[in-house]
Amino acid sequence: MTINLTPEQLEIVQGLMQTPAAVSPKYFYDAKGSALFEDITRLPEYYPTRTEQAIMSEHAPAIAQAIGTHCTVIELGAGNCQKARALCELIQPIGYVAVDISEAFLQDAVAGMRLAFPNLAIHALAVDLTASVELPASLPTQRRLVFYPGSSIGNFDPPQAQALLSRMRALLQDDGALLIGVDLVKDSAVLHAAYDDAAGITADFNLNVLNHLNRLIGSDFDVTQWQHLAFFNAEQSRIEMHLQARVDLVVRWPGASRAFARGERIHTENSYKYRVEDFVEMLRRSGLPHTQVWTDAKRWFAVVLARP
Ligand code: AVJ
Repeated sequence: MTINLTPEQLEIVQGLMQTPAAVSPKYFYDAKGSALFEDITRLPEYYPTRTEQAIMSEHAPAIAQAIGTHCTVIELGAGNCQKARALCELIQPIGYVAVDISEAFLQDAVAGMRLAFPNLAIHALAVDLTASVELPASLPTQRRLVFYPGSSIGNFDPPQAQALLSRMRALLQDDGALLIGVDLVKDSAVLHAAYDDAAGITADFNLNVLNHLNRLIGSDFDVTQWQHLAFFNAEQSRIEMHLQARVDLVVRWPGASRAFARGERIHTENSYKYRVEDFVEMLRRSGLPHTQVWTDAKRWFAVVLARP
């Protein structure tokens, strides 16, 4: 019997068959996972979202002045469009393009944006950022601001991040700018708490990827057999999330199966933490040498505006 797999299914199955097994963090974001991530952003331990917001509001006049008005905002990983609302109020753009991998979530969020900003030309684009982003042909030729908040750049290892930044550089053209949020290196206890919260929401978020995989490839993962694991890997300067088998088990799906011994892991996410100077250097190497950096008093997070 032959089974035809979609490219997505093939990617997932290949990751599961590797040793150690791995799943891309993009599969966290089914409808449930997107909602759980929103819950994470409100947790007391999860500082990135509120720290980024605080930086943006504290330095709003300077940021607005540096960006200028009447541009087209292209937001990568728009999610619920909450951050775009604040930004659009601040800089009065002409156009807004919301790019996100989660189609269902995106349509709702964009509908809300249309109500809030009736005069803004709004587009929604459901694509995977790791694939190439094709902008709608009808996009105005205005100066472009690529907006990539939340430190989502942290999900990519440095060479991939560099490649993605280079593609953003191409997207924003010679007169545009990139406004990007970056999570910074800090005390590992603070980092650990942010990815292993007391209420267990991050654990639910991590475990939920297994339910999503069950739907995507028809596997029979039993969430109760797995445990959430998060730690800071100081050598690689990244938080790692894994799912660890609580017992010896076998996962089956049409066409194959995989045995996991008790304690064996599936690597589900890396979240890289940068030093400001290293990130600025990476921007420079991606063709974005002119940077302005805003941070909070504790230097936990940075908002960077970068230009060619
Ligand atoms: C959406 C990638 C920025 O790395 O902090 C939150 C995802 N994972 N808690 C992050 C996440 C666990 C988040 N990013």
